[in-house]
Amino acid sequence: MRNALTQAEAIAAALAGTELPPLLDEARGALTGHDELLALLDAALVAEPPLLARDGGFIAEGYDAQLDEARKLRDEGRGVIAGMQADYAEQTGVGSLKIKHNNVLGYFIETTATHAAKMQSPPLNETFIHRQTTANQVRFTTVELTELETRILNAGNEALEIEKRLYDSLKGAILEQAPRVSETGQALAEFDVTIALADLAQAQDWCRPTVDDSRAFAIEAGRHPVVERALQQQGGGAFIANDCALTAQGDHAAVTLLTGPNMAGKSTYLRQNALIALLAQMGSYVPARSAHLGLVSQIFSRVGASDDLARGRSTFMVEMVETAAILNQADDRALVILDEIGRGTATYDGLSIAWATLEHLHGVNRVRGLFATHYHELTALAGKLEGVDNATVAVKEWDGEVIFLHEVRPGAADRSYGVQVAQLAGLPGPVIERARSVLDALEAGERDRSSPKALIDDLPLFSAAATTEPQPKAPAEPSGVETRLAELLPDEMTPREALQAIYDLKGLLGD
Ligand SMILES: Nc1ncnc2c1ncn2[C@@H]1O[C@H](COP(=O)(O)OP(=O)(O)OP(=O)(O)O)[C@@H](O)[C@H]1O
Ligand SMILES: [Mg+2]
Repeated sequence: MRNALTQAEAIAAALAGTELPPLLDEARGALTGHDELLALLDAALVAEPPLLARDGGFIAEGYDAQLDEARKLRDEGRGVIAGMQADYAEQTGVGSLKIKHNNVLGYFIETTATHAAKMQSPPLNETFIHRQTTANQVRFTTVELTELETRILNAGNEALEIEKRLYDSLKGAILEQAPRVSETGQALAEFDVTIALADLAQAQDWCRPTVDDSRAFAIEAGRHPVVERALQQQGGGAFIANDCALTAQGDHAAVTLLTGPNMAGKSTYLRQNALIALLAQMGSYVPARSAHLGLVSQIFSRVGASDDLARGRSTFMVEMVETAAILNQADDRALVILDEIGRGTATYDGLSIAWATLEHLHGVNRVRGLFATHYHELTALAGKLEGVDNATVAVKEWDGEVIFLHEVRPGAADRSYGVQVAQLAGLPGPVIERARSVLDALEAGERDRSSPKALIDDLPLFSAAATTEPQPKAPAEPSGVETRLAELLPDEMTPREALQAIYDLKGLLGD
């Protein structure tokens, strides 16, 4: 609390004389005005209080006399005893008088037996109470020493008790100021969010969006702020900015149907546009060159696969429950992003559901929406439904490999390059080979309108596996490295020779 209030004061001082937007100008006033509480906390607390109040040690020296004394006794108990011993030696005139400690008597005063008579007669016997006589020594205590002893023993506990009490009183003092402290917290949060967003806007080249009552959604060169940052941090390629034209005409829907290869950037595109809407409406700049948005009442998103088995929902069930919520609730001011709906069931079921969902979003909900799918059949709807457009993410094919351009363009994709992406992901060669022949057969079957199943039945079952069975290798000539390795006698080498041998082997590898 003390550090935060001190920082708040420092921030207010740094801002003095700076012109601020109205919201922050108002917040500025709440940063200061805690002088009394700060003075109290400054005086009461050590510079770096421990994390836990439990063990004490957070109240500063000089704040509470009782606490200072308790601590002094605890820490300097022996010093206090030494002082007392000097006093008693002077008072009795017995220079050899000692204060000692053992577990039976605790603290006691000890003189040699020669002083016994003097110690036990007036006036000294009024102060010194006899405890024990041994062969050579007499032992005494005093009321003062007994009290001191109890106090030393209790000093630690006492210090802790006092600190707890002070802690409560400090809490009380803070609570008295609670409403004002909350205002300061609120003001700090206001500055924090605003400055962080301003910082991002400047550093990452964001733009100021136009937000109005229209049903526009026109983004020029939009980016996904998180993916962009991740790419920057990995030192990977630059993030490819993409436009989004989703402005609804009249009371029509505006839906972009996004097809394109796996890994092309469909999901990224969907989310970046939803994020831009969210950022714009919270008053932030947005990661784009320009952005014009009509107010969005709700953002609905249906992305990713998850299940909720404990609540009796399978993966597909979750997907459908979420889709149902969107279809039942979205109105013509909603922004909807649907990522690959209908994937968790049989192809034709999924396609049918996606198809009907798109029609409903278009005709009934009339939303602005982005719809990513691998059902290329859906792209036919763009021609039929007003306000539904096709877009695709571009890739290039190069030597049988796919190169992802991450560029969203008008048009429809005709394939998803799933097998190529599976290969990139490291699926075993035979699996990829086999998948290719199954895919070819399926596509050929579709063209010939014959049953794809029959075609797959015709595929040579073991062809892929056969080609990749490990070929017995011809015994190869031993390499230079192997020859040299065979010559080495590890048990007879010094560490230096061993190291040299490693260098030699490494050198052999070089050629
Ligand atoms: N505009 C972009 N610029 C640069 N890199 C991008 C861009 N969009 C996506 N990427 C990169 O491509 C990866 C895959 O993107 P994304 O998950 O959006 O693909 P997808 O089309 O949804 O694929 P799938 O069909 O497999 O779900 C991202 O993790 C990101 O690293
Ligand atoms: Mg995706």
